[in-house]
Amino acid sequence: MSDDALRERIRGYLTPNKGTSSEQSETLSKFLQLIKYVSGSYDGEEGFRLLDKEISEHELAKNSQPGTSRRLFYLALPPSVYPSVCKMIRNYCMNQSDLSGWTRIVVEKPFGKDLSSAEELSSQLGELFNEEQLYRIDHYLGKELVQNLLVLRFANRFFLPLWNRDNIDNIQVVFREDFGTEGRGGYFDEYGIIRDIIQNHLLQVLCLVAMEKPVSLKPEHIRDEKVKFLQSVLPIALEDVVLGQYEGYRDDPTVPDDSNTPTFATVILRIHNERWEGVPFILKAGKALNSRKAEIRVQFKDVPGDIYRCKKQGRNEFVIRLQPSEAMYMKLTVKKPGLEMSTIQSELDLSYRQRYQDVTIPEAYERLILDTIRGDQQHFVRRDELKAAWEIFTPLLHKIDAGELKSIPYKPGSRGPAEADELLAKAGYVQTHGYVWIPPSL
Ligand code: BG6
Repeated sequence: MSDDALRERIRGYLTPNKGTSSEQSETLSKFLQLIKYVSGSYDGEEGFRLLDKEISEHELAKNSQPGTSRRLFYLALPPSVYPSVCKMIRNYCMNQSDLSGWTRIVVEKPFGKDLSSAEELSSQLGELFNEEQLYRIDHYLGKELVQNLLVLRFANRFFLPLWNRDNIDNIQVVFREDFGTEGRGGYFDEYGIIRDIIQNHLLQVLCLVAMEKPVSLKPEHIRDEKVKFLQSVLPIALEDVVLGQYEGYRDDPTVPDDSNTPTFATVILRIHNERWEGVPFILKAGKALNSRKAEIRVQFKDVPGDIYRCKKQGRNEFVIRLQPSEAMYMKLTVKKPGLEMSTIQSELDLSYRQRYQDVTIPEAYERLILDTIRGDQQHFVRRDELKAAWEIFTPLLHKIDAGELKSIPYKPGSRGPAEADELLAKAGYVQTHGYVWIPPSL
């Protein structure tokens, strides 16, 4: 491919968000001129030498001070080639100076398929790069409301006394998509929804919801607390799991006809620590469901000795809507306006679109790539964190892979298998019937 052909392929995906249309197209052209195409094989010396030469020439042309070369390699590649590509980068493409320059590597999930394969990949990369150079990206950590979680929890007096087993009945982290695997069936079938969404995206969100307060905002302090939380998760009980597969999933020619791979899963995690003992953490993810959204739902316990009990519609819930329509709302019971003394479920609502009308919320990747340039690893997964995450799910995944747990069929466009709702009810979640949160329109 020529440089120009690559630039043209990229052009359609870029939308500058500032300036008039002629300024925008100038910005775009200037940016595209910075892009070059260098080809080579994953393990061939020649291609990487060429890459190094191109980068060095660019650095010279930019008059960089010796020692300030900053090289960021983003591996948009299958993980199976990470080790060979990293070896080539290590041998041929490093920033040569030991002054203020750096070389960093960004890798995308899947980081392995289970504990042992993940550990093997970690050791292979660990021999080539140290932890400060490796950025394991999980794009959920770049979402605006995920980044808000620690601020919310630790900068507000409101939440401090409430955030524990005395007040909270159950917590859900939910991911739903209203489309299927769409052309990614081949990849997906090897991994399934637990490896694709739950073990990484949802578990990362859960860590921020449930971890203890870090000593400071230093990335290492935050990640220390996440690891501590992950280590207090108890082994998953099979009766706390419901798997599903949407009807039609196997029609994809790249999916085997007898596939048991779950496209839906509800998994309850139970925590062995002082704050959360007895509180079920429900992780739920599914493809081809009836809606597309991701949210955290913190459900509080019933009011003790409640004098309004028979008139009430539901429990207090604090909902953090990650997407779409970013919002936080707190469901609460109020007097129904009017002459009668009756109650109604309402909400305190912070909807971002309404409250922050002039703010463009950055894309998760946009923010995380900026972090890699700045050298901030707070929103990236540390090696021991990854290991702890795999420790939680590996025994369950091995049982699923061995066919010991079956995926229940569900209709595309539904809520998923009815058994999942039954499990939720058994865990103590109380659905509020007749209440629907409506994002405010502008
Ligand atoms: C990816 C998964 O990591 O996240 C996909 O591999 C999924 O299966 C996607 O569709 C969801 O991301 P988002 O940001 O659209 O919720």
